[in-house]
Amino acid sequence: MKLVLDCDPGLDDAVAILVAAHYADLVGMTTVAGNVGINRTTRNALAVTQIAGLDVPVHRGAGKPLAGEPVDGSRIHGDTGLGNAVLPDLDRSEASDDAVAYLCDTARSVDDLHLLAIGPLTNVALALRCDPDLRRHLAGLTIMGGSASAGNITSVAEFNIWADPEAAAVVFEKAAPVAMVGLDVTNKVVFGAEETARMRGAGTPAADLAADVTDFLRDRFRQYVGESTVPLHDATAVITATHPHLFERSLHPIAVEVRGEITRGMTVADLRPPALIEAIGPAGVAASDIVWDTDVDAVRELIVEAVLAC
Ligand code: RIB
Ligand code: CA
Repeated sequence: MKLVLDCDPGLDDAVAILVAAHYADLVGMTTVAGNVGINRTTRNALAVTQIAGLDVPVHRGAGKPLAGEPVDGSRIHGDTGLGNAVLPDLDRSEASDDAVAYLCDTARSVDDLHLLAIGPLTNVALALRCDPDLRRHLAGLTIMGGSASAGNITSVAEFNIWADPEAAAVVFEKAAPVAMVGLDVTNKVVFGAEETARMRGAGTPAADLAADVTDFLRDRFRQYVGESTVPLHDATAVITATHPHLFERSLHPIAVEVRGEITRGMTVADLRPPALIEAIGPAGVAASDIVWDTDVDAVRELIVEAVLAC
């Protein structure tokens, strides 16, 4: 599978980059502001690929959402965005500062390309403005984001959607079908001390980085959530794209709340039977794939094995 990864590294993004490079032909990466600012997400993407010895081009993207002010996830991801990981001086640089042009050009020029977005959807929405036919040129579009149940950054909103709801609304409306890998499934694939100890056993800089960022995330979860195991949301989204047979999913209209004071950033999934929606409406936006469940042990093992192979 040829894959472009749009990301906001980000602790779990860092592991996702390693997993994507292992199971897919990682053609390129684009960065977006999200967990931390665009300078840091771009630097982190370059650092992770450098540590892992991945010659994957990184294209800088949007530094702020379509509307409103940039948000920040540093209370979870740390000020650098990669916890307390010690990062090398960079000997690689960004391929361009125009992620949107890269996304549009690559979608048209590379056959069977799958786009996986694991951060706020600002770049994808801007690419859709640039090329309304973008989705037709992609073999698939998968996002880590949203939830048909509870939220994480608010009681009802998941961070990637909440960080740029206007962008998410554009993507669900204009790029259907979107495979939505939301908290419904990602919260089930959790990692603890046993998994990070296995990662460290590889004795490679990349596996150590994966263990470091996962342990940092575990510390923050212990502090905020009272749990010692953590979901690696983005890495699970990678497996959803590369191993789709492991996941249970169903098609439903998804609308994004952009005006609600309490519910801004909520992905509202219309789970009513299609005939009922047709009969009494209102029909929501185009249906997208909600990913509900998976073989948790199999997905966790695929992620750990990818890290061990770095
Ligand atoms: O809600 C989880 C998402 O928010 C992940 O992509 C994580 O990296 C954060 O950006
Ligand atoms: Ca992310």
